[in-house]
Order: sequence, then C-alpha cells, then structure tokens
Amino acid sequence: VDALRERTRRIAAWFLGPKAENAALEEELILYILRDYFHWRRNYQPSDEIIVTQQMRRDSVEFSDALLQQLAEMLARLKRHFPFYSPRYIAHMLSDQTIPAILGYFAGMLYNPNNVTPESSPVTLEWELGVAADILHLAGYQPPPPPGASHRDTRREFGWAHITSGGTVANIEALWVARNVRYFPLAARRVARDLGLPLTVKLAADTAHAALLAETTEAEALGIRPNEAVFLLPRLVAAVRDRFGLSTAAEATARTWELISATGASVAHHGARAFADHPPCVFVSSAAHYSLTKAADVLGIGRDGIVFVDVDRRFRIDLRDLEAKIWRSLDEGRLPLAVAAIAGTTEEGAVDPIHEIDTFRRKLEAERGASFWLHVDAAWGGYFRSLFVTAGDNAPEATDIAERLAEVQQFASREVMIERGVYRRIIPVRWGHHDTAAAFLAFPRAESIAIDPHKLGYVPYPCGVVAFRNDRVRHFLAQEALYLDESETSVPRYGYQPTRTIGPYILEGSKPGAAAAACWLSHRTIPPDREGYGEILRASLLAARELFERLNHFDHAARANGVDAPFEFLSVTPQPPDTNVVCFLAKRKGDSSLARMNLVGAALYERFTIAGDGGASHDYSYLQPFFLSHTRFRAPHYSPHSVGDLLARAQVDARDYASEGIFVLRATVMSPYIVLAQESGGRQVYLAEFVDELARVTAEIVRA
Ligand SMILES: Cc1ncc(COP(=O)(O)O)c(C=O)c1O
Repeated sequence: VDALRERTRRIAAWFLGPKAENAALEEELILYILRDYFHWRRNYQPSDEIIVTQQMRRDSVEFSDALLQQLAEMLARLKRHFPFYSPRYIAHMLSDQTIPAILGYFAGMLYNPNNVTPESSPVTLEWELGVAADILHLAGYQPPPPPGASHRDTRREFGWAHITSGGTVANIEALWVARNVRYFPLAARRVARDLGLPLTVKLAADTAHAALLAETTEAEALGIRPNEAVFLLPRLVAAVRDRFGLSTAAEATARTWELISATGASVAHHGARAFADHPPCVFVSSAAHYSLTKAADVLGIGRDGIVFVDVDRRFRIDLRDLEAKIWRSLDEGRLPLAVAAIAGTTEEGAVDPIHEIDTFRRKLEAERGASFWLHVDAAWGGYFRSLFVTAGDNAPEATDIAERLAEVQQFASREVMIERGVYRRIIPVRWGHHDTAAAFLAFPRAESIAIDPHKLGYVPYPCGVVAFRNDRVRHFLAQEALYLDESETSVPRYGYQPTRTIGPYILEGSKPGAAAAACWLSHRTIPPDREGYGEILRASLLAARELFERLNHFDHAARANGVDAPFEFLSVTPQPPDTNVVCFLAKRKGDSSLARMNLVGAALYERFTIAGDGGASHDYSYLQPFFLSHTRFRAPHYSPHSVGDLLARAQVDARDYASEGIFVLRATVMSPYIVLAQESGGRQVYLAEFVDELARVTAEIVRA
C-alpha cells in the first residue's frame, strides 16, 4: 500500500510532537514571547524608579530556594500525569494541543486579560469575537458584518457567539436563552392585550398570515416558532415606543421590560412561577451529557423536566420515540421547550439526525401549531464540520448532501493494511455516511450550537463556544450593569447592533482572555476548514476507523493463522462509529454470562489505565503502554430495546441486563499522530501494537 500522503505532513508542524520533536521551535517562541513581554513592562514609563532592587533580590534567596524546591517537587509529581500527547493514549477526550494554541495561551496568560468587558481586555475581547465569527462560520451561521458595513447589509440576520468555560456552560446558556425566548410570547401577549397594541405575529400553524398577538390563545402564543419569538422583542419595543412617544430605543427598551415584568408571566423576571400553567420539558437522547440535566436543574425546568428519549442501535436519538414523547407532552399541556440533539455523543461519538428532527419540527408546526427550540450539543463533534467547509464557503444549505458527502469521503479516506502472520488484508477506510453528512449539514437550521475548541479544536482549557443563529437573542439575557451606558443593552428596531461588551449577555463573569488568544492564534494559523483543522480531524477519524477494522479483523486473522483465540472483541455497533469514538466489548467465546463478560471488560480496563487518585499499582505513566477508558450502558438510561441488538450479537443472556448493565471499553481516538506516522512513512503501527497488547492481556484475563 502506498500510504504516503504529502498533505498529511503539514500536521507535523502544527503540534509539538509526541517526543517534543518541535521543541526547538516552541522553546524559541516561548522565549520570544517572554522577552517581548519583559520589554513591554520596562518600556512603560521608563523613568519610573526601580522598586525591587538588587539588594532586595539578594535578600530573597531563601524564598527562591524554597520556591525551587517546591517547583521541583511539583514537576516530579506532574510526571504521574497521563501522556495525552502520545498516540498510545486513546482513552478520554484528550490529546495534544496545537503549538499556536499553546503560544497564544502563554502570551495571553502573561497579560492576564479578563474577557468580561473591553475595559479589562481591550485586545483579547476582539480576538474572542474573532473566534466567535470563526465558529459561526464553522457552524454554517452568518458571522456579523464587518465594522462600517452599509446600512443595507446590516439588516439581515446575523449570528452571535462567545467563548465559555466549556460545553457545560454553553449548554446551560443555550437552554437559558431557549427558555426566555420560548415563554416570551406569553408575557408579550399580555402587554399587547393590556395596551391594545396592534402587534401581529405569525403563528406556527400558519406562517403565511399574520395574527393579532392580543387575540391569540395562550397555546398559540407558546407555539410561536423560536425565531418569530426572537423578533417579537424588537417589534414589541418598537410598538411600546410608538405608543408612549418615547424618543430613544433605550427608553423604549426599559419601558418594555417594565411592562413585561408587570405581567407576572415573564420567566426571566418571575422564575418558575411564570411557567406553572405550562411546565417545560426538554428532550434529549439517553446518551446526552449530564450537563443538560444540570442545565434543567439550574434553569428551574427541573431535572424531571428532562425527557430522555431512547437511542437506536447506533446510539442516535430514536426519532419515533422523540416524536411520540413530544406529542404526549403537548397532550399533557406541557411546553416542548427544546430538543437538544447531539453531534458526537460523549460515550459513543454518535450523531443524532438533526435534519430529521428539524423536518419533524416543521410537521409539528403545521399540524399542531407547536414548535420547539433546536439546540445542537456539538461540544464534541462541532469541529467535524470543518471537513465540509472550504475557504469562503460555510455550507449553509443542505441541498447537495450527496455531492458534499462525496467530496468529504474522497478527502477522508485511505487504505489500511492488516497484517498478522499469513493474514494480509488491505482495507479501504473512509469517513462519511449519508445520515451523518445530512446531520452536520443541518447545523444552520438549529437555533443554537455548543462547540468546544478545548476538545476537537486542540486548544487548552477552558475554551468552549456557544453560538446562536440570531444575534438578537442577546437581549433576552441582557442585564443592566451600572457601569454600562443604557444604549448598550437597548433593543434596536431594525438592523444589527454590534456589541461593545459581552458581560451583560453571558452566563459567566470574569473569564480568561488567554483562552481567546489561544484559540484565535490557532484558528489564524490553522483555519477551521478542510485545509486546516480538516486535516487533523481526518487523521483522527481515519485512525478511529482503523481501530474499528483491526478489532473486527482480529478473530479472522487469528483463525487464518490456525489459532482459535478463546476470546473475541466486538464493536458496539456492527457499522463503524459515526465519528472517532470506538466502543467495544471483550468476552470469552461461548460464554453467555453477561456478568462474566462485564468482569472481563472491567479487568481489561484496570490494565489499560492508571488510577487517577494516585493508586499504588501503576503510579507512573511510563509504566503504562496504552490507555483506554470505559463506560457502562445501564437501564433505564439505555433501554433494553436500544441494547438488545448488541446483547444478541454478544450472545449473552439479555435477562441480566437490568441488574448488570454492560461494561464497555471506550477508545477516543483523537491523536493526530497515528495517521501522520503512517502517511509519512513511519514504521511503527501503533494501533496494531495496541490490538496485540489488548489480545495478550485479554488472553491472560480469560485464562484466569
Ligand atoms: C457531548 C458533550 N456535551 C457537553 C460536554 C461538557 O463539556 P465540558 O466538559 O467542556 O463542560 C461534553 C464533555 O465531554 C460532551 O461530550
């Protein structure tokens, strides 16, 4: 197999390398940053007196010695840290970070900007908005117009995004906005009634005609499509302004919020009391990350307000179950507030059919006059969209799925050679499937998306992003701050109003400008499109596919060599995983006990990890040749139905599932180095070595 591919080699420049091969460059640039920073200090008011004198410095040697001692101990202890950078680490969602991200973070950290307001981050806040524009582009949303754009150009719909501490906060904030927007028409309707405002809206069931808001029923008002509800706010502010003859948008905004607050029906003002008559529910698949339950808890929706939907055999949300549960919620008088679809589940990397969820939403609107907010939790999978994005084109419409898929498949493909004794197979692997492509291409149809640069953006923590399709959602969170000019949080009637600050519109307060600098420098040098990040994600996806194939071929290869291994490996789906997480089982052949299969899995996991809590057995990561993680599928989260196929393939007794669950081994294959090594002529085949080691240890375990 001619495995060499020139383009892949570019990855070699982007990371430090598992053996710190790019150390000279990184060292030189870190030093450059540090010296430049010292220079910056010295040149500020150069005639100011020196405060820390040579004498003082000589007097502080004791402190320096103590510091050195502690530092040395600290560095020694850090060696027990897991080698995320190594191609041998395929456990959790962790890998190396790009060199530009490290340099950006380091530089940003020295200046210590606080990206809550431009007064504490005059430079890095701009970079945050730059990163936000990149992520909007990546998501298929419309990034904001450049400063000075013509009036006509600012009348379109633009996205809004910012950096968060991670996927958890991004999910919470997205659902916070969703909650305030979805209930807003209820309070707006009261205001319209009380003042007799001639304000019209388009109802979900009939978007061709406008209805008088004051004359709608509560159910109709709650059914208003999310984006219509977003636009209702500026229209209400405009109507209030006209009614009271107010001269500025700021006055009209303040008066509108007063009126909204007086209705007693505003969730933002009155909390959960306001939705007592129409309790909310949020639909997520049972493979959802627990941050969504946290969100429901803190937003007053309540943990019970999360409705778990079954997953199918591929761990994607089961559309039929989702539809049935949404219809039922409406029959029970509840508000289907939002559906949080997942692009890359934490455990399996599965991608929900976002396109089909949106299609169902249209049906629900037409047939029932009800709707929901569509949020995509792409904390894990968001950067996979870079495979679909080419310079200047952010794939906003999913009209030519087959064509785009073909391009991506051609890009993300290679041949893998499996060679064990007499067994030799050349297996073409490629990433991309119609369902996953359609789901990724449907991103722009969602109202909000969480995408974490600190996961598949390969930048240091903390760096998540929450992105909204419509910038006007900011006003549903806006808080007045005494230091702010009122006009900052006022709602304009038309047009895009750039924000000068972000603090009033976000969940968090103080946050690291260093994170923005890291992500910004990484994106500036490795663009989040097919040419840039696409290469890294291709390497990750193809390595995951390779692992999947090697596990599946293990038994055939053993038999071809005349060996009947007493154990077998079984991927949790017969098809390749949707993205780059490979989950599998290991079991003794012919053993139908689920409990014993779980014991094999747990014993294997023990051998492929080191205790994170400083356990005694394998203290130093140098002693550990490979790292894996694990998960457990349990009822009722994963229904017996959703794992039925898996249990049948494993030929174990499904009756024990309720009590036992299924212990699953999990490999998150993020490393860019596995494919880089192979496509640049490296001799070491890490995943073949991994499967050999796995087999060796499994044999020991089943023997015992
Ligand atoms: C799908 C998904 N959503 C949300 C999160 C939460 O992200 P964070 O840990 O950055 O808060 C994760 C984390 O693994 C995740 O996998």
